[in-house]
Amino acid sequence: MDTKRILNFNAGPAALPLSVLKEIQSSFLNFNNCGMSITEISHRSFWFDDVINDAVLRTKRLLKLDDRFHVLFLQGGASLQFAMVPMNFLGDNNTADYINTGTWSTKAIKEAEILNKKINIAGSSKDKNFSYIPENFNFTKQASYVHITSNNTIKGTQWHKFPDINKIPIIADMSSDIMSRPLDMEKFGLIYAGAQKNIGPSGTCMVIIKDDLLKKALNIFINKLHV
Ligand SMILES: Cc1ncc(COP(=O)(O)O)c(C=O)c1O
Repeated sequence: MDTKRILNFNAGPAALPLSVLKEIQSSFLNFNNCGMSITEISHRSFWFDDVINDAVLRTKRLLKLDDRFHVLFLQGGASLQFAMVPMNFLGDNNTADYINTGTWSTKAIKEAEILNKKINIAGSSKDKNFSYIPENFNFTKQASYVHITSNNTIKGTQWHKFPDINKIPIIADMSSDIMSRPLDMEKFGLIYAGAQKNIGPSGTCMVIIKDDLLKKALNIFINKLHV
């Protein structure tokens, strides 16, 4: 069976190690001796809580995240975060800076615009068909955040040094380079990554958020309920 496996270098869904697939296979019908498959147990059961809690712990260990960071696994893929980020962190009287480095940043910008949010394109490489990472920026002084795409999957460009923006949190779409290198987490308020590229099968998006940005999340539900 092993010899028939295809070498999959697709950008996503990515290949998983054979040992992982075999472990899934061997425990599929009777997950952790609970008598059921993992696809049959309740997503609110303690068996499943263990799976999620273990994934959070492993993520924290691999990325060296301290207690200020929260790790979430959310539905909707990375694309949903294009909208969730401005919905939750960009108030109507504020501006967020976006750096446009390719297809995925362009989509993130579009989602913020659909929501009628005020954004400033602080840098762009659109002039040369997104073939480089810009070095000159026009940042807003009190921006709510600066959004970047750390690796531009389609154009193949990657940020090697993240900008210093004096306490303004960077929000980064790291879908295609998460876990590929050590990160200085101090610069980031939030990182999101569709799991299917670098860390697992499709169907979930990993979001890492730092406490101080979390405290600034907009009270959107309360505002809307009281209209
Ligand atoms: C950098 C980047 N951001 C976002 C996405 C979209 O992710 P999803 O399919 O999880 O919405 C992709 C690829 O699909 C990507 O490479």
